[in-house]
Amino acid sequence: MKLQDKVAVVTGGTRGIGRAMVEALAREGAQVLFTYAHNDLLAGQIESELREQGLKAKGFKIDVRDFEKINQWKEEILIEFGGVDILINNAGIAKDKALMMMSREDWDEVIDTNLNGLFNFTRAFIVHFLKKKEGNIINISSVSGLIGLPRQVNYSASKGGMISFSKALAKEVAPYNIRVNVICPGFIDTDMTRKLREEYVRQMMPLIPLGRFGTVEEVARTALFLADETVSHYITGQVIRVDGGLTM
Ligand SMILES: NC(=O)c1ccc[n+]([C@@H]2O[C@H](COP(=O)([O-])OP(=O)(O)OC[C@H]3O[C@@H](n4cnc5c(N)ncnc54)[C@H](OP(=O)(O)O)[C@@H]3O)[C@@H](O)[C@H]2O)c1
Repeated sequence: MKLQDKVAVVTGGTRGIGRAMVEALAREGAQVLFTYAHNDLLAGQIESELREQGLKAKGFKIDVRDFEKINQWKEEILIEFGGVDILINNAGIAKDKALMMMSREDWDEVIDTNLNGLFNFTRAFIVHFLKKKEGNIINISSVSGLIGLPRQVNYSASKGGMISFSKALAKEVAPYNIRVNVICPGFIDTDMTRKLREEYVRQMMPLIPLGRFGTVEEVARTALFLADETVSHYITGQVIRVDGGLTM
């Protein structure tokens, strides 16, 4: 198993891409600590499903916007699990609207979750990684952060910010053997994309050379590649597109 004895934190691990990453990391032997914002029942189900398979995953209700709580929780889990090796910043939301219809709340909520959430979790764990001179940070951005997509100025700004944040941090912490990489998924079949209007999906589909939406497992396998030190140890500051060729 590739991640035996590793401890991984995955934010937003109850649904979609996050859940697939939780399952993939746990299957490779990692102890996975995943967070979520709302559904306790679902988190409990994931824990018990994985436990029945002999895998280790534990859910925590922690909003990525809550800086104080994240820091308090970090102290607790560092004691309970002895350290963290991999941090995956995945939790994110979209509130798609044309700018002229976008409220200040729509803007704030997306920036606060996607970009400030990234700061909150990374800031909480960076000292731990610096102290042990080792760390692996994987940030889930989006093609929207690379090319910009209409009706998503809030989302595109947050995801573009995640990419710049990651490149700056990758340079800052490389001397401490801490890697920071980004995955930019294209259109992936999850609750988030099921909300897209049919007409929009019809317009986008011909722009995807592989001709289909991606699966959560395809993103999770890329995360696994970055999580596995034995194959990706010399890779940092990179942006990997899992988008069926959409942005080539
Ligand atoms: N799906 C795509 O096509 C696509 C494409 C590019 C990038 N992405 C990015 O990939 C990531 C995952 O997307 P997804 O499609 O898997 O989303 P999703 O199915 O909507 O799941 C989002 C997850 O994030 C959690 N979450 C949301 N707000 C949170 C908060 N404030 N604090 C803690 N957890 C929170 C949710 O937990 P609760 O249910 O408890 O709220 C849920 O577990 C996001 O960052 C998204 O922007 C997705």
